[in-house]
Parts: sequence; C-alpha cells; structure tokens
Amino acid sequence: MLSQAVLVISAATLAAAQWPSYAPALVSCPSDSILERTGNPISGNQTLFGAEASYIQNRRTNVLPNLWQQYLQDNATGSTGYDVMQIVQNTPNLGIAVSGGGLRASLYGAGVLSALDNRNSSTAGGLLQLANYLTGLSGGSWTVSSLALNDLQPVYELVAGINNSRSGGWMLDKSLITPDGLLGISQNGDYIDALSADVSNKSSAGFPISITDLWGRALAYHFFNQTTPSNFYEAAPHDEGLLFSSIRLTQNFQAGAMPVPILVTTSRQSEQQQLTNDSTSVIPLQNTAFEISPFAFGSFDPSLSARIPIEYLGTQLSNGQPLNSSACVNGFENAGFMIGTSASLFNAVQESFSGAAFGSIISRLLQKITDLNPPAGSVPLVANYPNSFGNFTPEGGYTFESSGNEILQITDGGEDGSNVPLYPLLVKARAVDAVFAVDGSADTSETYANGTSLIATSDKVAMYMHNYTDFPPIPATQADFVAQGLSTRPTFFGCNSTTGGNQSAIGAYPLIIYLPNSAGAHPGATNYSTFKLDYSYDEVVGFLDAAHEYTLRGFPNASSPNEPDQQWPLCLKCAVVDRARARAGMNRTAACEACMNRYCWSDAVAETLANSTANGDQASSSGKPSSGALKTPALSYMALAGAGLVGGVALLL
Ligand SMILES: *[C@@H]1O[C@H](CO)[C@@H](O)[C@H](O)[C@H]1NC(C)=O
Ligand SMILES: *[C@@H]1O[C@H](CO)[C@@H](O)[C@H](O)[C@H]1NC(C)=O
Ligand SMILES: *[C@@H]1O[C@H](CO)[C@@H](O)[C@H](O)[C@H]1NC(C)=O
Ligand SMILES: *[C@@H]1O[C@H](CO)[C@@H](O)[C@H](O)[C@H]1NC(C)=O
Ligand SMILES: *[C@@H]1O[C@H](CO)[C@@H](O)[C@H](O)[C@H]1NC(C)=O
Ligand SMILES: *[C@@H]1O[C@H](CO)[C@@H](O)[C@H](O)[C@H]1NC(C)=O
Ligand SMILES: *[C@@H]1O[C@H](CO)[C@@H](O)[C@H](O)[C@H]1NC(C)=O
Ligand SMILES: *[C@@H]1O[C@H](CO)[C@@H](O)[C@H](O)[C@H]1NC(C)=O
Ligand SMILES: *[C@@H]1O[C@H](CO)[C@@H](O)[C@H](O)[C@H]1NC(C)=O
Ligand SMILES: *[C@@H]1O[C@H](CO)[C@@H](O)[C@H](O)[C@H]1NC(C)=O
Ligand SMILES: *[C@@H]1O[C@H](CO)[C@@H](O)[C@H](O)[C@H]1NC(C)=O
Ligand SMILES: *[C@@H]1O[C@H](CO)[C@@H](O)[C@H](O)[C@H]1NC(C)=O
Repeated sequence: MLSQAVLVISAATLAAAQWPSYAPALVSCPSDSILERTGNPISGNQTLFGAEASYIQNRRTNVLPNLWQQYLQDNATGSTGYDVMQIVQNTPNLGIAVSGGGLRASLYGAGVLSALDNRNSSTAGGLLQLANYLTGLSGGSWTVSSLALNDLQPVYELVAGINNSRSGGWMLDKSLITPDGLLGISQNGDYIDALSADVSNKSSAGFPISITDLWGRALAYHFFNQTTPSNFYEAAPHDEGLLFSSIRLTQNFQAGAMPVPILVTTSRQSEQQQLTNDSTSVIPLQNTAFEISPFAFGSFDPSLSARIPIEYLGTQLSNGQPLNSSACVNGFENAGFMIGTSASLFNAVQESFSGAAFGSIISRLLQKITDLNPPAGSVPLVANYPNSFGNFTPEGGYTFESSGNEILQITDGGEDGSNVPLYPLLVKARAVDAVFAVDGSADTSETYANGTSLIATSDKVAMYMHNYTDFPPIPATQADFVAQGLSTRPTFFGCNSTTGGNQSAIGAYPLIIYLPNSAGAHPGATNYSTFKLDYSYDEVVGFLDAAHEYTLRGFPNASSPNEPDQQWPLCLKCAVVDRARARAGMNRTAACEACMNRYCWSDAVAETLANSTANGDQASSSGKPSSGALKTPALSYMALAGAGLVGGVALLL
C-alpha cells in the first residue's frame, strides 16, 4: 500500500506546529515497539499512556489544588459545608463529553462550555478549567479541537470572533460544502478544487484517501484559525499541515491548564459487516470504539486494549511489528482529518439513501476522489487508517474484529448509537469521578435529545465491556426519559456508588450530569436541523446565549418554570466533588443531601418523576419542528447531516 516513493523526513520536524503539507511521510521507526497494550482493569494492570499520566499528575500537583479551593470557597454560589482542604486532598476528577449532531451539537457544546468557563462570570464558572478531560464526537469534536488548538481561547471569541467583530471566529456563515452560496457566480468550485489539491498530495505520497479527507479539509477551513473571511478563497495555507498533537505545544497545555482533549470514533470491519448487520445502529455496538488524544490513538475496549503514539498514526503494523524499519509514518494525524474522521458519516448515509438520486450524487463526489488516483485498497466512504493493529490479539481471550484488515475503516463516533463520547471517561485507569454528558443529539421530531445515546452506552457497557468499564443505572427506554421529564432538564445519574469513591474499582462508575438540549426558555434557538450547514451571526449568538442559560438553569421550580433554580450552582458543586467526599470518608452535608434528592435519578424516584411530569411540573417542551422527512430512527442525525451534504454537493457539482 505504501509502495510509492515518499518523502522521508526526520521525526524532529514534529516540534513544528505545522507539518509541511497535508501529506504524511515515512520516517524510520524507533527502536522500541510503538504498539503497547493498555492492560486490563480486571488484572489491575491497566495503564494510561505515559505522557497522559504525567500530564494529569502535573495538574493534580500544580494546577488543581488552587483551582478547586477557589471554586469550592466561592461562597457566592453557596457552600457545600465540606472541609474544603479534605476535598482538595482527594482531588476530584472531572470530565466533560460533547456529543455529535452536526453544527447544532458544536454550538450547543460551545454554549455549555462557555457557561462552565471561569472567564465568563457565570455561576458555574471554573468547571471547564477544573476538568481533566474534554471529549468530543463528530460535531462535538469540532468544538473540542477548535478550542484546544486555539489554546483555550474564550469560547465567545473563538466562535463569534474577537469583540463580536463579525469577523474571525468559526466561518459558520459560509456553508461547509457550498461556502459561496448557491446562487449566482460562485467560488464553490475553486474551494473544492483547493481541498482536492491538498488531498492529492496525500494520495500521491502513497496513502489511502477517501471522502473523509475532503471533508476534513473543509472542516479545517471552518474551525481552525489560519482561515479568515478575507483569505477564505485565497491560496493560503488554511491549516493543511496542522497536526492534532500540536495541542501539546499550546501555552495552556504546556502549563497543564487545559483538559486533555480526546476525540471518539468507531470502526467497521467491512462494508459487508455494516450492510448485513441487523442491529438498530449503523455500526454494531460490539465494534471497537477508538480514541484520539494529543498523545495516542487506540482503544481501551476489551476487543483491542492497545494503542500507538499519535505521532505514528498511519503506520501499518503486523502483530506490533512495522513492515520494515523505515516504514513508520509521521504527519498522518492532521487535525482536520481527525475531526473529519470523528464526523465521518458517509457510510451511514449510504445505508439510508439507496435511492437513485443519492447514488448519482455520491458517485459524482467519489469521482473527485477517483480523479486523485487513490492508492489501491482505499475505501471510499470511511476514513482510511493503515492498520496499526493488524494480526494483533488482545489479551484476555478477546479478538479484534479488524485484525485482518490492511486498512482500518474508521467512522463517525455516533454510528454505534453512542453519540455522547463517554467511553474514554469510563476507563478505569482514568478514574473519572463525574462527567458532564452534553447531549445535542437530534433524537426527537423536534430535534432535541431523549436519552437514546445514554441507553446505547449503557447497552455497550453491559453487553461488551466485560467489567472493563461500568455505567450507572438509567431509565430503560427513551419513553421513560421523556415521561419522567429527564429530556428537559439536568439530571444526575449514579449518585450512590458502593466503592467508597474509588473510581478504579470494578463496579465503580462516574456520576453522570446529563445536560440534554431542550426547548427550555428559548424554544427554537437550539434545535436547528442537523441539515443546516451554515449559521448567521445572529443565529450563532442566539444559540450560544440560550445554551449558556440552560447550563445555569437547573431544574426550575414548578411555580416559576423559566427562573433558574437558585440551588443549582451549589448542587453542581456537590455533584462534582461527591466521589472525593466519599474518599475522604465524609458524609454528605444536609445542603448536598438536599441537592442529591432534587437532582439524582433512581428507580425509586422514577415513578414520582413520571407522575409530577404528567402533572405539568416541568417547563413544557416546545419548539419549531425540524425537517423530519428523511428520518429513520437510529440514523436520524447522521441521515439528516448526510442529506444536507448531499443537497449541497448536488448543487455544486
Ligand atoms: C496484565 O495482566 C494479565 C494477567 O496477569 C496478563 O496476561 C497481561 O499480559 C498483563 N498486561 C499487561 C499490559 O501488563
Ligand atoms: C466562605 O465561607 C467559609 C465558611 O463560612 C469561609 O471559611 C470561607 O473563608 C469563605 N470564603 C470566602 C472566599 O469568603
Ligand atoms: C492560532 O492558534 C495558534 C495555536 O494556539 C496560535 O499560536 C496562533 O497565534 C493562533 N493564530 C491566530 C491568528 O489567532
Ligand atoms: C477588544 O475590546 C477591548 C476592550 O474594548 C480592547 O481593549 C481590545 O483591544 C479589543 N480587541 C480587538 C482585537 O479589537
Ligand atoms: C502538492 O501537490 C502539488 C501538485 O498537485 C504540488 O504542486 C505541491 O508542491 C505539493 N505540495 C507539497 C507540499 O508537496
Ligand atoms: C451483527 O450484530 C450481532 C449482534 O448485534 C452480532 O452477534 C453479529 O456478530 C454481528 N454480525 C457481524 C457480521 O458483525
Ligand atoms: C427518542 O429518539 C429515538 C431516536 O430518534 C426515536 O426513535 C424515539 O421515537 C424517541 N422516543 C421518544 C419517546 O421521544
Ligand atoms: C463482572 O463483575 C460482576 C460483579 O463483580 C461479576 O458477577 C461478573 O461475573 C463479572 N463479569 C465478567 C465478565 O467478569
Ligand atoms: C459570557 O456569556 C454570556 C452569555 O452567553 C455572553 O453574552 C457573554 O458575551 C460572555 N462573555 C464573555 C467574556 O465570554
Ligand atoms: C456518617 O453517617 C453515619 C450514619 O448516619 C454515621 O453512623 C457516621 O458516624 C457518620 N460518619 C461521619 C464521619 O460523620
Ligand atoms: C442513595 O442512598 C441513600 C442512603 O443509602 C438513599 O437514601 C438514597 O435514596 C439513594 N439515592 C439514590 C439516587 O439511589
Ligand atoms: C403515580 O400515579 C399513579 C396513577 O395515578 C398512582 O397509582 C401512583 O401511586 C403514583 N405514584 C407516586 C409515587 O406518586
């Protein structure tokens, strides 16, 4: 596959933030094996990648103690009543997960993160900085990567431009595929040609390419900072060489002041597997889900339990060995390609649009790729990663379903139904205490979330994780989520854990703080269709402000459904430190007990919730209906995004 002559450069070039082009290159392999096993929590030998462990250790020692102290001692948002120093010594471990769902999910995630940022004077400010991990999937991966690669720029500036200048920021007024609009003289063709030219460099260097490469280049124009309104159509670099690992070079990362960003994707073994499986999601839940961090690529799932350093992504290995010692790869982890991968939904669209129109549009788009003369073996509709886990056998008697593949077929992280990227935050070795599950999925006909993603995650954990991870009890069905009002307000799952706060124990799970996108006080402001591939400045600001307000609203009292719960900021404090409180051997205070009673879900309270919801003790849900014509149940958000793409491409080509 890598037979063509390629540039061989020194690994030292990595120190630069920008790789010379979009094309990866061959380098000589290091003397130590680049593949390492992650171990397993049952044997007690599961480990983090060394550099990740050091990063977190540095934060725990030098960054977090002061931050937690400030947050907990800020009496303006209420006092937990706990001995703050005891909590700090038992370092709470927080994660935030931002779901998929196209640009809607990107903006929902951005609005939530802004409300959790200590540079915005909100009542939940500081939790972004306190988080050790920030995971993103598909549309959520765009937010997370943009934020991290821009050195944790304040979210408003990042998205809307500095001083609301209407310039800079994300290029959301320009559609992802047809940035120059659909009418009149248009530069759309030049734009696609510019994307193709970059991808061409990768193809001619001998690396497999697919539609995901074009997609990733388009996303880089919209979410990374070398592209501005004035140079959009010009021959500028446009971050074609931006590497995901260069997050490590930013000032905040160097200072240990940034959560570790991690993107989530999933994989299929083959097109045949996808098309013949009768599971309700596109990709069977048991397939390996991968994570992409600034340090490593791999999976803690029992079906792999292995990883490689991110620098060597794209290196083909057989049972851990390179094909030859000068055939290791650098520069494959292009940041645009990484976020394109996490949002690579073309194979899902393929399944739900078998009609003739779709066939002809896809074939025209594929022609763009074919014109680039892809190396033999390239798989057109998924992200192509030369397989670093070829002929690899995981420990514990498990098998890796793609071990026989030359190319790993990586797809949108939400294709197994688990649209909130929780898997990395359940890993025992990370011992995460509490997780914000920021869910911008379009589950309902009104384009809001209804618990579908949490149910898929819970199913995967129960059926395929074999105690490698655990998940708290949640309602059994989406109908229960809706009937109990859990799709309209924040809820804590897993408040009671029997492991004394020891999060690496078998049977331990983090406390999940579920933040579903819902109509709330701003119906219509946050439930745009996944179809929508451009947003005006006013739509962006209206969206961010609404999501910001939801994050700080909590569970309003029935008597004033649009007023935020005054106790919510305190209840968040109680939730994020609850496992550390248990480790410190303290009982809950009356203040925190009251919060837990108000926000924690259990089977015991489910019926009461359902009854009170039925009686109207909820902010009622309403909003504008989405364009639902193309929906199929589990595929809805991807199918819709796909339709938008296809529509745009149809008009373009
Ligand atoms: C973890 O322990 C198991 C059982 O003792 C062993 O088979 C496996 O090789 C170990 N894995 C690692 C990565 O050390
Ligand atoms: C908050 O209240 C606690 C206990 O009442 C007190 O010890 C602490 O100094 C106060 N913090 C601030 C910042 O005022
Ligand atoms: C883009 O982000 C990089 C990485 O943080 C930073 O060094 C650079 O100054 C940023 N450029 C602009 C124009 O903001
Ligand atoms: C943004 O506004 C602040 C306060 O008005 C000003 O100090 C700063 O220079 C402005 N920044 C830019 C890039 O215009
Ligand atoms: C990319 O390919 C084009 C030809 O398609 C070539 O002109 C250009 O020099 C290449 N860029 C790099 C950095 O190799
Ligand atoms: C399809 O999924 C089922 C369970 O969901 C699994 O048993 C089966 O092996 C899968 N088929 C393929 C081809 O992966
Ligand atoms: C929840 O969302 C799923 C996925 O779109 C949908 O099939 C189901 O009908 C929805 N159920 C409820 C109760 O909203
Ligand atoms: C998982 O743990 C539970 C309780 O500790 C145990 O009953 C079960 O057998 C374990 N399952 C596996 C696959 O190890
Ligand atoms: C803080 O958030 C509010 C509400 O969304 C927003 O209007 C404001 O611009 C933000 N301020 C900064 C400095 O980010
Ligand atoms: C915690 O509460 C239990 C039951 O009320 C009580 O027996 C125990 O002494 C308390 N522990 C501490 C440390 O206060
Ligand atoms: C947690 O445990 C306490 C005491 O054991 C109990 O009162 C409470 O109802 C439980 N909460 C949940 C959400 O299960
Ligand atoms: C919920 O409502 C049902 C039907 O009205 C009633 O039978 C049941 O007792 C109620 N449960 C609670 C906990 O209020």
